[in-house]
Amino acid sequence: MDFVGSHILSVDQFSRTDVERIFNVADTMEPYANRSRITQILDGAILSSMFFEASTRTRISFGCAFNLLGGDVRETTEVKSSSLSKGESLYDTARVLSGYSDIIVMRHPIVGSVDEFARASRVPVINGGDGSNEHPSQALLDLYTIQKEMKSRGQAIDQLRIALVGDLKYGRAVHSLCKLLSLFDNIHYQLVSPPELAIPGNVLATLQARGHTIEEFEALEEGINHVDIVYVTRTQEERFPDQKEADRYRGLFRLNQSIYTKNCEPNTVIMHPLPRDSRSKAQELDDDLLENPNLAVFRQTDN
Ligand code: CP
Repeated sequence: MDFVGSHILSVDQFSRTDVERIFNVADTMEPYANRSRITQILDGAILSSMFFEASTRTRISFGCAFNLLGGDVRETTEVKSSSLSKGESLYDTARVLSGYSDIIVMRHPIVGSVDEFARASRVPVINGGDGSNEHPSQALLDLYTIQKEMKSRGQAIDQLRIALVGDLKYGRAVHSLCKLLSLFDNIHYQLVSPPELAIPGNVLATLQARGHTIEEFEALEEGINHVDIVYVTRTQEERFPDQKEADRYRGLFRLNQSIYTKNCEPNTVIMHPLPRDSRSKAQELDDDLLENPNLAVFRQTDN
């Protein structure tokens, strides 16, 4: 794809060559991220960071990246602190903000809202997460992490065996990662979820159409055998029709060191898009994994 001036709304936009190109650029950016080199290449440029839904990593990391490259960031967090709360449309908001900004990153709870916003914008828009649909930048950093972790073990992304655990229905990071990963060769997916929270049919169809192998599991202990990566996710409680329904799934899958030792390979990498739910009844990723060198969650956030 031609990246110049393009919106980034879905991983469906990318080819394998595009992904490899982004990863090569990411490698060259590392000295700027760790402050060993300095640049002002974005001096005078403005990023509008519009997060109409809670965020720590995506919002702050986009802002920090833009600042580290010399640009400025203007932020709105939550609908209530923008004029959307006064009934302004996404169309008008996009027309206005794109007059003030060079690029916009946006998160919104409604599926398709970022696409709608982008259609009205006069500058490129990056999808920072639209409801349960997609989270393209998370998928890029996840796959970049997978590439680095596998390379340190002498492996490539091709032939990867990955278990995806938890709320695969509402987890937008899972949807984007599964599709992005499917651009590579001979991926084996082990999907671990209750049937009610299974991965959406359209995502499954993409993986199948690209010839990958897929197994589905309901038990954590079975689903995490013989894989290179275990990718754990939080139950996306905010997407459920009501709290009672969400409560049914809290704490259903809890990966801890004992379960890992009994069921995973000795060097299986543990990933999670974060935030993990650390409340006592959830804990899908136990704190006793913090000393495990294969826990890559903070390498993910650094990436
Ligand atoms: N992974 C992720 O999107 O985190 P935030 O919700 O904190 O941005």
